[in-house]
Amino acid sequence: MTNSANLEIRNVKIVTATGISPVTDCVLKYVTGNIKILDGKIISISNEPSESENVFEGDGMLAIPGFVDPHTHIPFVGDRTKEFLMRAKGAKYSEILKDGGGIHSTVDSVRKASLDDLVVHGLKYARWFLKSGVTAIECKSGYGLDFENEIKQLEAIRRISENTPQKVVSTFLGAHAVPSMGEKAYIDELKYMLDFVKEKDLAKFVDIFCDEGAFSVEGSVKYIKYAKSKGFKVRVHADELSSNGFAGIASDLGAASVDHLAMCSKAEIKKMAQNKTMAVLLPLTSFYLKNAFAPARAMIDEGVPVALGSDFNPGSNTFYSPFLNIHLAVNYLGMTPEEAFVAHTLNAASVLGLEKECGTIEVGKRADIVIIDAPDIDYIPYMPSGELLKAVFVNGVEFFENRDNFSRKD
Ligand code: NIG
Ligand code: FE
Repeated sequence: MTNSANLEIRNVKIVTATGISPVTDCVLKYVTGNIKILDGKIISISNEPSESENVFEGDGMLAIPGFVDPHTHIPFVGDRTKEFLMRAKGAKYSEILKDGGGIHSTVDSVRKASLDDLVVHGLKYARWFLKSGVTAIECKSGYGLDFENEIKQLEAIRRISENTPQKVVSTFLGAHAVPSMGEKAYIDELKYMLDFVKEKDLAKFVDIFCDEGAFSVEGSVKYIKYAKSKGFKVRVHADELSSNGFAGIASDLGAASVDHLAMCSKAEIKKMAQNKTMAVLLPLTSFYLKNAFAPARAMIDEGVPVALGSDFNPGSNTFYSPFLNIHLAVNYLGMTPEEAFVAHTLNAASVLGLEKECGTIEVGKRADIVIIDAPDIDYIPYMPSGELLKAVFVNGVEFFENRDNFSRKD
């Protein structure tokens, strides 16, 4: 293993989208060659190997851009194993939430946790992601539900960002569940929190969970208008458990993305296509909750740009592998392997505003590169085993290497 940010990755088959815009019609570029990296950035891609001292021999394996996860609920502490088992026996996520469990149960754990606890657990999860090839992540607050604890989570995100090699983007999700004071009073508190978050530059995005047992459409509209007036980009959790029309409204209000969309209607898809709103689909959550999968095929056919994320959190989904996520996208959402690949790389980077830095393998971008032992990208959904993953480079530094059961030498 090499640990310098100056190196050459030799003899790989590069597969990447190109450019910086979200992609709606998928054209991938395939190049066989050598990737030269200086100070963590890609400086050349060529057929001719150079004189580098520091070489990673790719042996004909695939080199793909590091996966980007545009929707996680890191940082959190604690677990909700009991709820998982209740759901396995038939209980519903929304009922558990209404009865004061679900998100509220993680809020209890997070309020008791110190800032250091949150950072330690957040960094642990960030490393799990990195070992699965995820080189950029979004992190959200949302398990504090009061000023002190929401800010504690955002501070934890800042510290996680300073201590992990991955790119980290922060989202304020104070509007994750309604505490006992009720929606109206809490939205007033949230506005005050938003002012502070802006002043201290603690988050790039503001998010709200508008669904059964969470925020109402009316309250959510007021809140996102306020957040936009403060200069925040807005993202929303919509149509996860039920369909209430909010996805279309958020799209019309200029949301940077609308996430979940398992219950999305045709009319909403039309609006998102017209507005070119990014749909962030989270099939691992549908799988974990045994709920419907988002109508990705209809969205893509209508021209909606689609990204994939994990939604990793202690309640509705604890999976985070982009390999499994792409498997579900192809096998259950009707996406092609190419569409799913772009959705978890360039389009996911674009949701986070990172499209100029990562999401593709191109000169000038961060050397966030994943090496997999596969003949082509169709193999990712076909064989979604983490064993395919042979090395992960983040910002040019090799983080992980696994040459066990290595097969490709062409
Ligand atoms: O995206 N739906 C709201 N938030 C998460 C779940 C969070 C939790 O259950 O702790 C989600 O599924
Ligand atoms: Fe979520």
